[in-house]
Amino acid sequence: MDNILKRLSIIRKNGLYRECRYLSSVQSPKVNMDGREIILLGSNNYLGLCDDSQLKEAAIDAINKYGVGAGGSRLTTGSCDLHKKLEEKIADFKGTEKALVYNTGYMANVGILSALCDRKWTIFCDKANHASILDGCLLSGAKLVRYKHGDMDDLEKKIHMNKGAYNLIVTDGVFSMDGDIAPLSHIVKLAKKHGILTMVDDAHGVGVLGENGAGTASYLGVNEEIDVQMGTLSKAIPSVGGYVAGKKEIIDYLKNVSKSFIFSTALPPSAIAVSLEAIEMIQKDKERRERLKNLATWFKNELQSMGFSMTNTITPIIPVIIGDVEKTVKLSESLLEEGIYIPGIRPPTVPKGTSRLRISIMATHTYEDLEYVLKVIKYHGKRLKIIEG
Ligand SMILES: Cc1ncc(COP(=O)(O)O)c(C=O)c1O
Repeated sequence: MDNILKRLSIIRKNGLYRECRYLSSVQSPKVNMDGREIILLGSNNYLGLCDDSQLKEAAIDAINKYGVGAGGSRLTTGSCDLHKKLEEKIADFKGTEKALVYNTGYMANVGILSALCDRKWTIFCDKANHASILDGCLLSGAKLVRYKHGDMDDLEKKIHMNKGAYNLIVTDGVFSMDGDIAPLSHIVKLAKKHGILTMVDDAHGVGVLGENGAGTASYLGVNEEIDVQMGTLSKAIPSVGGYVAGKKEIIDYLKNVSKSFIFSTALPPSAIAVSLEAIEMIQKDKERRERLKNLATWFKNELQSMGFSMTNTITPIIPVIIGDVEKTVKLSESLLEEGIYIPGIRPPTVPKGTSRLRISIMATHTYEDLEYVLKVIKYHGKRLKIIEG
């Protein structure tokens, strides 16, 4: 216990202690927090579908037909026909032979990587990849080689130095804290040249980028060349779950070996029904994607012209890099006082010295609300000497 207390006090001392903020309304551009109406600008509900009436109806219909719980794990009694339909739908959406649904994106990454790779493998992993990828790599027991974020020279150098008997390159499609996208065309070329498998986690690309919202690989025209396509059902697709899509043999193998798939109760049919319906909507609704893109591009340009330090984002994830932990917290708190919630992101989620506000736009935000946000951020950015003026 002493050791835990000591570590907790270090977290507090470094200004890195975190708490949950509780909303008492639906996840949408305006939420209720502590009895106040707040503009929410940090959600992964990119397409604004959490409050969609068609999707709510799909969940209610599924509850009426299948009840509230799955009652078993996927390979015992927990699979219903909706799970099968969703897996077929995902394979179609991602343009692959087959797909498999996990209970969360986190469980998917951990389960895929630890089942595919073992001590005989070397995994090349972008340094900015999501924590669940890193955990999957560690759990696999493979040799882990981390390359500089998006740096293809570094990746190639590390391949030459570390390539083993079996190899995998794994990367986020859209980086969750930076909003930039992986150089997948280059990665695929290197992988082909060196005979390496590729895996992309497209948690933040699906629904947002690519033909019919199919994600980053589709956007960059390399969909066919990615061996393992992982994604979530919890962001633009506004439900819960993760998935892997790829060749039949990979999916059949994972279904039989991947522990986080096998040893956990299946997702409730209502969550599956929402994902199924949402993918169909996303495939058809180009307008919503366009609106999101236009809002995000405009908002990012406005912030940049005020002098804020930004990443190379082209997505609705728009980080404002502040650096200092204390200033980040102060800015986030000042905004909250003015009725705007943008979470401040600190280490260990992001590297030391790069604390930031992780802004994310929803397709359902209004220009009017976003103009108010810009005005308030500018004022506090100047007051806290984050920007000049
Ligand atoms: C890149 C990335 N991968 C995986 C996950 C985990 O997905 P889930 O929230 O569905 O567990 C996240 C979630 O934040 C993510 O950002």
